[in-house]
Amino acid sequence: MSGIYIHVPFCKQACHYCNYHFSTSLKNKENVISSMIKEIEIKSKGYDDLIETIYFGGGTPSFFDTIEINKIINSIFSKFKISSNPEITLEANPDDLSKVKLKELSNSFINRLSIGVQSFNDKELKLMNRSHNSKEAKNCIDNALKYYENISIDLIFGMPNSNLKIWNSNLNYVTSLDLNHMSAYALTIEPKTVLESLVKKNIIKPLDEDLVFEQHEFMCEKMSTHEYINYELSSFAKKGYFSKNNSAYWLRKKYVGIGPSAHSFDGIFRSWNVSNNALYVKDITNNKMFSEKEKLSVIDQYNEYVMTGLRTYWGISLTYLETNFGLSYRNHFEKKVIKYVDSSLVIIKGDVFTTTIKGKFIADGIASELFLINR
Ligand SMILES: C[S@@+](CC[C@H](N)C(=O)[O-])C[C@H]1O[C@@H](n2cnc3c(N)ncnc32)[C@H](O)[C@@H]1O
Ligand code: SF4
Repeated sequence: MSGIYIHVPFCKQACHYCNYHFSTSLKNKENVISSMIKEIEIKSKGYDDLIETIYFGGGTPSFFDTIEINKIINSIFSKFKISSNPEITLEANPDDLSKVKLKELSNSFINRLSIGVQSFNDKELKLMNRSHNSKEAKNCIDNALKYYENISIDLIFGMPNSNLKIWNSNLNYVTSLDLNHMSAYALTIEPKTVLESLVKKNIIKPLDEDLVFEQHEFMCEKMSTHEYINYELSSFAKKGYFSKNNSAYWLRKKYVGIGPSAHSFDGIFRSWNVSNNALYVKDITNNKMFSEKEKLSVIDQYNEYVMTGLRTYWGISLTYLETNFGLSYRNHFEKKVIKYVDSSLVIIKGDVFTTTIKGKFIADGIASELFLINR
């Protein structure tokens, strides 16, 4: 199984927390799209794996016209081997999803929407510099549900000045509509963002880490009572609605990345396209496929398995460790993990280790203690 990720590097406006790769200038749009199509042609040559998921991420993929989205999908369908029922997701911002656009998309191959709501609280949306308000977000979801049942929404918690009351009412919106999927991320104050500069100037204060954890714990408990499965640190889904694209990524399956800043993974090599729209167009014009490429050592692969295992409900299996990496890796893991089992951050079922709610919240910190170092 394999997937395709398309990075759409344009946004209407810059959100104050975001440091993903995007441009608010549409100057290179036509050239980026034709370069994506050329990249699809080149990367499909000799690629025999069946494609089961296609994911338009960004940036803001819904910023593209449906005709442009269809052009890219048609090019993928004509060049790659596609499974009979692929999951094809489009990340979308509420202000792009008019009724007309939703109707057009529902007549395209897009069969799943991931809508970036972030919050239903107007004060928070303003601080985030989102291009929509809560009323628009709610209308957009109501309209989208008329065309799609496979819908996910993105939320961010732990915003400065947020509290359990605001967070609870955000979650209520998801549970009251019984949405099938939600991704909820703890805010990170990223370098070179407006939020970071506001924090540095003492204009806003990040929320205390204990209060962020309180919101995380509250969410896990609430979503569980509404029968959502927390299958990855930030992902909650009703049974049968796990994102196939994200699951494949966490289960370390292969994927082909298309577009500026997109990553690819072929099971051994991880590679990156350049994070600059003009340079990307130049690279593709010159048939230069990647700006960087790295071969994963066995230690790298072990570290990645441990990191994703601690974040997901699939966990870390001792049998998998021994079969794929060797007895010494299994022994190293067993020796190091025991202190987290003793402190109830990790639990064991059979030969599988998974994190508790608290353990999942600090999964990356635990993983770093279990890593091996390349010499
Ligand atoms: C890069 S965005 C692309 C999707 C779309 N453009 C949007 O804004 O919804 C993917 C998701 O990452 C999350 N995200 C981005 N920056 C973040 C940050 N600094 N902290 C927490 N979540 C963040 C947001 O929830 C966002 O919906
Ligand atoms: S969060 Fe989404 S819309 Fe906002 S800047 Fe980032 S990619 Fe663009």
